[in-house]
Amino acid sequence: MFDTPCLVIDLPVVDENIARFQKLADAAGLQTRPHIKTHKLPFFAKRQIAAGAIGITCQKIGEAEVMAEGGLQDILLTYNVIGDAKLDRLVALAKKCKLSVTCDNSTVAEGLSAHFANAGIDLTVLVECDTGAGRCGVQSPIAACELASQINGLPGLKFGGLMTYPPMDHSENVDKWLADAKKLIQAAGIACPVVSTGGTPNMDTLAAFKHATEHRAGTYIYNDRSLIARGACGVEDCAAVVKATVVSRPTKTRAIIDAGSKALSSDLLGLEGFGMVREAPDASIVGLSEEHGIIELGDSNWDPAVGDIISIIPNHICVVSNLFPTIWVQDENGEMTEMPVAARGMLR
Ligand SMILES: Cc1ncc(COP(=O)(O)O)c(C=O)c1O
Repeated sequence: MFDTPCLVIDLPVVDENIARFQKLADAAGLQTRPHIKTHKLPFFAKRQIAAGAIGITCQKIGEAEVMAEGGLQDILLTYNVIGDAKLDRLVALAKKCKLSVTCDNSTVAEGLSAHFANAGIDLTVLVECDTGAGRCGVQSPIAACELASQINGLPGLKFGGLMTYPPMDHSENVDKWLADAKKLIQAAGIACPVVSTGGTPNMDTLAAFKHATEHRAGTYIYNDRSLIARGACGVEDCAAVVKATVVSRPTKTRAIIDAGSKALSSDLLGLEGFGMVREAPDASIVGLSEEHGIIELGDSNWDPAVGDIISIIPNHICVVSNLFPTIWVQDENGEMTEMPVAARGMLR
């Protein structure tokens, strides 16, 4: 049986969330390539594949190594890989699974080529495009075409298409950006088989991505309080809760729990409070120290006793997943199984 603080995952809700994404993508004519950063377990990645996903997305080589070891075959690494240490691992990884990566600059493309030219495999490389989210990515369709041409000419590499992590509320603009880039690339005589978009908050408007071929959602598998706040899911769609024990009731209006920043993270994601107490959504987790959470009950009728175990929906589940060495998976019969979060802590 679990002890607190711990992360408990509701398997039937996970399966519903997986099925929903697949259904929405099918309806929009898109393939799915879920991002595993949220769950970090081959167990769930395989469930996503079984539901119809063509492959998975990872952000770190260490995550991809764990997934390949766990039997996942088709992996897209959406990160600029730099330096001999990582590039040597990338070559070894490409010999174990169908690997593709993304890149947004010449330095990265040349590094990839230098390591793959004599590896006996051509690495598929997608160009990362900044379609408005303001993170990595080439800055214009013309720049995307230039980098695609460079990749196409480099030994050991094969241009695979376009990848973006888009801003969430501008799907039509994103689609136009990608369509323009694809047109330029094809006009240059280069095939552009994959156009990969992503995100959970835009899952309900996937049809706007008319020129995409696949979508990478990640957080949707568990959902969290930030997605409730955006209207992207309901409380009942949240599959992950941090279980915590009430360890003190110093005043009538304050409860202290054994989950602090090391269990809930300090991530606010623009929200007030550090998570939602499922038993009392009107109570506020107003402060965290490392091992204590401070709940103000305010006008809530909730009156927890010392020793009560409560459930908290985290603000940002992906970082919380990374904090726990194991999760407890609860099946439809209420049976609990403890599983290691195998790709946790993979910073490299
Ligand atoms: C490259 C990339 N693809 C897909 C995703 C998944 O997005 P979401 O967590 O909104 O589902 C992310 C999230 O950070 C990402 O960085």
